[in-house]
Amino acid sequence: MRHVLDIVDLSKEEIETLLKRAEDIIDHPKLYRDACRYKKLATLFYEPSTRTRLSFEAAMLELGGAVIGFEAGTSSSTTKGETVGDTVRTVSQYADVIVMRHPNDGAPYAAIQRTEVPVINAGDGGHNHPTQTLADILTIYKKQGRLNDLTIGLCGDLKYGRTVHSLIRALIRYNNVRFVCISPKELCLPDYILQLMDENNVEYKITDRMEEYMADLDVLYMTRVQQERFDTRAEYERLKDCYILTTDKLLTAKPTMSILHPLPRVNEIACDVDDDPRAAYFDQVAFGKYMRMALILELIDDAEKGNAAPERVKILTDKRCDNPRCITCREDLKPYAVNGKSGLRCYYCEALLK
Ligand code: CP
Repeated sequence: MRHVLDIVDLSKEEIETLLKRAEDIIDHPKLYRDACRYKKLATLFYEPSTRTRLSFEAAMLELGGAVIGFEAGTSSSTTKGETVGDTVRTVSQYADVIVMRHPNDGAPYAAIQRTEVPVINAGDGGHNHPTQTLADILTIYKKQGRLNDLTIGLCGDLKYGRTVHSLIRALIRYNNVRFVCISPKELCLPDYILQLMDENNVEYKITDRMEEYMADLDVLYMTRVQQERFDTRAEYERLKDCYILTTDKLLTAKPTMSILHPLPRVNEIACDVDDDPRAAYFDQVAFGKYMRMALILELIDDAEKGNAAPERVKILTDKRCDNPRCITCREDLKPYAVNGKSGLRCYYCEALLK
């Protein structure tokens, strides 16, 4: 079985193929309108969404397929105590592909232990959001004309911002991509992402000043402070307005710079920036649907051909994950680990096991 839970489940070559397919869909939509006739996509959204759920649903409908699912865990049998594994095993009797969003880190790794159809991660807690990265990559490619030789500013909540984690994992595979990580120290990147950049000799700078490297950036990727992931309201209130991009802060930016944001925004980009030709975040929304169409086609095709991908090597451990947001803290799952350079990490959420 082939799943996409992490952007690295897709090779660089496969991402290039998806980019080309998405561009072909944009140019020739009629060629694809029956491509998924008689196929069903299930959207299991345990956490709110506008773009990801509706773009997946629009993508499947535009491919001629049908959509089933739920838009909140509260409207499913989760409220009666059903586990992710049982839900996914059930839904895989009804659908050809499952798209799942969950508030807990690593939940899709619980799902794939029980599914009978491909699973796509539509965002798990503060961990990963691989299909947002597909949207981001097409946007960067369309706006900058390349995926190599880029300086990318990542600004805001880099700790809980799952889209940033997936984007870094994707782009470190391209040549000469540098990052400027702009956040307060409380919201800096998690250790496993910093370690990944170090292991891959990726050049990155860390700053808490948005304007410090503005003139160097080819892409400025803004993010929302993720209110729903904070332990206390007071901590969120203290950090929520840490960066607000206004037109005056763009004075030193390159005229060719692209401003991205996975959306939704709260106040971190002032609305008058929307009129700046560098604002690319609503194009990013549109591109997301085409990349998701390309991905659905690819996964259904793989499933029909019986193409599989090797699963990550996991080992049973007696260590428990102490990340309170990990799916293992909510459901009784086998305590699996994966080997990391600094020791065993939780198979589900990648937290270091102590
Ligand atoms: N970018 C993104 O994931 O948006 P939604 O939460 O609206 O799906």
